[in-house]
Amino acid sequence: MSSAPNTKQTPKPNSYAHAPRLPEADPISLADLVRPGAPIELEIGPGRGGFLFERLAAVPDLCMLGFEIRRKWATIVDDKLKAAGLGERARVFSEDARVALPRLPAASLSRIYIHFPDPWWKKRHEKRLVVNPTLLPNVARALVPGGELFVQTDVEDRAAEYQAAIDAFEGLTPVAGGPRLEENPFLARSPREHRAMKDGLPIHRLLYRKP
Ligand SMILES: C[S@@+](CC[C@H](N)C(=O)[O-])C[C@H]1O[C@@H](n2cnc3c(N)ncnc32)[C@H](O)[C@@H]1O
Repeated sequence: MSSAPNTKQTPKPNSYAHAPRLPEADPISLADLVRPGAPIELEIGPGRGGFLFERLAAVPDLCMLGFEIRRKWATIVDDKLKAAGLGERARVFSEDARVALPRLPAASLSRIYIHFPDPWWKKRHEKRLVVNPTLLPNVARALVPGGELFVQTDVEDRAAEYQAAIDAFEGLTPVAGGPRLEENPFLARSPREHRAMKDGLPIHRLLYRKP
């Protein structure tokens, strides 16, 4: 008698279970993460990481951190940085930026980038939004005086919402001639930015500074 085919699925091992995480210490010492003494910038949601590599190549004395909620991309990009010999200058951690940012020391970052965030449009997904009212005080707290927040998106309504929220927040002020910028002045572009440019989409850029 032939037995019935085994239709039970074997669960796949989670190959990113060991994704890099921030240390438990509170507050975290950034000197334990990247080479001490250099200015440190943070990218929230680096995805495939292209901006980190381009920015590190453009500014050789800079260090960078990335908080990427997707374990897979945090692992792949962090491994790639190490393989490229950049592990002392940059790390990507599998973290929800909304939870991780308050854990960084105050006045420790020279710039925070948020490129093309929040690809969710349904009301019930609002809780996923990275740029939300609670993020801004944490951004201002983590920046050094004179430190900057750069946000860009190809969705005009989102740009208008971000601008209204940041304008209403006292801890950040538009840069001279800003907050809207025509160009990205940071000598590096994110993967989505490259794609938007190739597709001829308008990009809305905002730059604010901590007074
Ligand atoms: C639309 S993608 C843009 C990727 C990249 N910034 C770019 O411009 O090419 C948004 C990225 O943000 C990440 N992300 C979303 N919410 C996040 C959160 N709370 N903390 C950290 N990363 C987050 C997503 O996993 C994704 O990689």
